[in-house]
Amino acid sequence: MTNLIAAGIAGTGLCLPERRVTNDELAKVIDTSDEWIIKRTGIRERRWVEDGVQCSDLATGAAREALANAGIKASDLDLIVVGTVSGDCVFPAVACQVQHNLGATCAAFDVNAACTGFLTAMQVGSTHISAGLAKSVLVIGSEALSRMVNKTDRGSAIIFGDGAGAAILQPFDVCGRGEILRSTLGADGSGHDLIALPMGGTRHFHNMDSYVKEDHFIQLKGREVYRFAVQKMAELIRWAMEGIDQDDLCCVIPHQVNQRIIEGALDRLDWDQSKVMVNIDRYGNTSAASVPIALHEALEQGRIQEGKYVVLVAFGAGLTWGGSLLRW
Ligand SMILES: CC(C)(COP(=O)(O)OP(=O)(O)OC[C@H]1O[C@@H](n2cnc3c(N)ncnc32)[C@H](O)[C@@H]1OP(=O)(O)O)[C@@H](O)C(=O)NCCC(=O)NCCS
Repeated sequence: MTNLIAAGIAGTGLCLPERRVTNDELAKVIDTSDEWIIKRTGIRERRWVEDGVQCSDLATGAAREALANAGIKASDLDLIVVGTVSGDCVFPAVACQVQHNLGATCAAFDVNAACTGFLTAMQVGSTHISAGLAKSVLVIGSEALSRMVNKTDRGSAIIFGDGAGAAILQPFDVCGRGEILRSTLGADGSGHDLIALPMGGTRHFHNMDSYVKEDHFIQLKGREVYRFAVQKMAELIRWAMEGIDQDDLCCVIPHQVNQRIIEGALDRLDWDQSKVMVNIDRYGNTSAASVPIALHEALEQGRIQEGKYVVLVAFGAGLTWGGSLLRW
C-alpha cells in the first residue's frame, strides 16, 4: 500500500480511582491470603471505584490529561474510540458520554475486545489517520470491572482492578513522536466461553423467573486462559521484534495480566524483565486500561527514549489479541 499517512502518539493520560484495595482487605471476605495472591499473580493491591463513579468518569479523566499533554482541545477531536467491557450501561457507548463530558462534537463509539480493547481502539484510530479521515483521534481503554466481579469468588475477585488510560493520535508528521510502525489484531472465537459475563445480552436476558446469580458476574476459566496468555504474549513480542535489534528497543508494554504469565512468556523468549514495564503489583489486571496506563507511566518514568522502539501487546476475552510496534 502506498500514500498512507503514518500515525503517532501526541500525548497520553491516565485516571485511577482513589480507593486502594489490598490483598489483606480481600482476605477478610474470601478464602485467600496476601501471600497466595502475591506469589500466584504479583498483585499487591488494586484500585476499585467508589459508589457513584462510572467507567465514563475514569475515561473522561484520562482523556483530559491526554488532551493537555498533546496540547489540543476537545473541539479539535475528529473521533473518540473507547475500548471497554464495563461501560456505564449495555448501551449507549461510553465514548458518547465522554464526548459529552469533554464538550467535543466528533464521532464516538466503543469497541468490545476485552483486554485487547485499547490496542483495538488504537488500530481503529490510527487507520482513520492513515486513510486521511481524521487528524486528531482520542483512544481510551477504560474499565470499572470491580462492579462486575463476584466479590466472593476467589478465582476472579483478586485479579481485576479499575482505571483508564488514554492517548491522542495524530499524523506523525504533526506530532513527531510515538510513530506506529505496524500493528496486528487477531481473534479465536472458539475460546469465547473462557472469560465471559453472560447476563445483560440476548442469550441470558434478564428474566427474574430463571435468575442465576453467577451469570451476573465475570466467569473466568483462569487456568485455560493462563496457557493461552503465556503463548500469545511470547508470539506477539516475537512478531513485533521481527527485524528489530534488541539494543534499539527501550520498552515492552504488555497487558498486565499476571506477573507469572509475563515471566512465563519472557522465559520462552529467553529475555529478562529489564525492558518490560510491569505495574500489576499496584493496579491488578485493569483489562483494556492496562496497556495505556502502563504506557503513560513508562513515559513519566523516562523509560521511553526518543528514536527507540516500543512494543505494546495485549490479549483477552474473545479470545482476542493485538500488538503494535512504535518508534518514539
Ligand atoms: C486465576 C489465576 C491467578 C489462578 O492462578 P493459578 O496458579 O492458575 O491457580 P489454579 O487455578 O491452578 O489454582 C491452584 C489452587 O489454588 C486455589 N486458589 C485459586 N484462587 C485462589 C485464591 N485467590 N487464594 C487461594 N487459593 C486459591 C485453587 O482452588 C487451587 O486449589 P486446589 O489445588 O486445591 O484445587 C491464574 O490462572 C491467572 O492469572 N489466569 C489468567 C487470568 C485471566 O484470565 N485474566 C483475564 C483475562 S486477560
